[in-house]
Amino acid sequence: MMFPEYRPRRLRRTEALRSMVRETSISKEHLIYPLFVAPGKKVRQPIESMPGVFQMSVDVAVEEARQAYDLGLPAVLIFGLPEKKDSKGSHAWIKSGIVQKAVSAIKKDVPDLMVVTDVCLCEYTSHGHCGIVVKDRTSGGHSVIIDNDATLELLQKVALSHARAGADMVAPSDMMDGRVGAIREALDDNGYEHIPIMSYAVKYASSFYGPFRDAAECAPQFGDRSSYQMDVANSREALREATLDMEEGADILMVKPGMPYLDIISLLRQEFSLPIAAYQVSGEYAMIKAAAGNGWIDEKRVVLESLLCFRRAGADIIITYFAKDFAKSF
Ligand code: PBG
Repeated sequence: MMFPEYRPRRLRRTEALRSMVRETSISKEHLIYPLFVAPGKKVRQPIESMPGVFQMSVDVAVEEARQAYDLGLPAVLIFGLPEKKDSKGSHAWIKSGIVQKAVSAIKKDVPDLMVVTDVCLCEYTSHGHCGIVVKDRTSGGHSVIIDNDATLELLQKVALSHARAGADMVAPSDMMDGRVGAIREALDDNGYEHIPIMSYAVKYASSFYGPFRDAAECAPQFGDRSSYQMDVANSREALREATLDMEEGADILMVKPGMPYLDIISLLRQEFSLPIAAYQVSGEYAMIKAAAGNGWIDEKRVVLESLLCFRRAGADIIITYFAKDFAKSF
């Protein structure tokens, strides 16, 4: 008998064997559920471009957080819509600020749910930028110049106020240089050495954030964020950004947006031993919802597939507006 020359064969897979050899998995313990908290009482305001996502007053956000916890989700990420905006974003760090109130109310009601806060100024500044704008240099172009170092001092205040309110982890999303180090120092100097930093280390100047800017009411009033967020065309720069954040003391590195940037997640996975988070952003959510709403794709299967793909690319943690739906279904 002639033996055929060696040829690799695909496993003939039964369901049991398929499960046995599956390389990655996705389950709810990897997910973080974002919440948008707004002033008022009993507010549950739908966001048009993000069906199923709401701006919620603190009382409603607490109920939502409780539901998330009861469904087995480990963590929420809090975004705030302040009562008042000004040029420095001072409502981002006041003790009676919206995030501070939401964090303490959630921690009181659902103490075992991990509460993460987004540390940024764009929801709180009247101009919608993530830092202090140097006005005289904007010159009508797109790139707005931000006073990086003056912004760092404000971000320190924001992070510290979140920690004081009871946040379990802070997530700076502003993309100023040196912010992780500055926030680490402020937390350490004030007795919050144990609070980790999940850095939006690699955050692109992406158009996929459009619906979020409706949700958080933080669209820039002039110019765009390309002077401080990353150029979509770059991947080596992602390594530089992530290296800096690691050196400054980041505990988790995040890549954002998610699906169009799986190559970046994979690159970071190969180069770093820190845990990696991926943010499936508002535009990704909106696209899936819109197509599913039209009956063009099967929402549940697409959500499962997209989250599994994040894990395959190398993400440990996924921030997704689908977290609750996923936890209900799987
Ligand atoms: C900034 C921030 C943004 C998002 C999370 N944090 C918006 C931006 O950078 O413009 C976007 C998240 C999403 O699109 O879902 N505070």
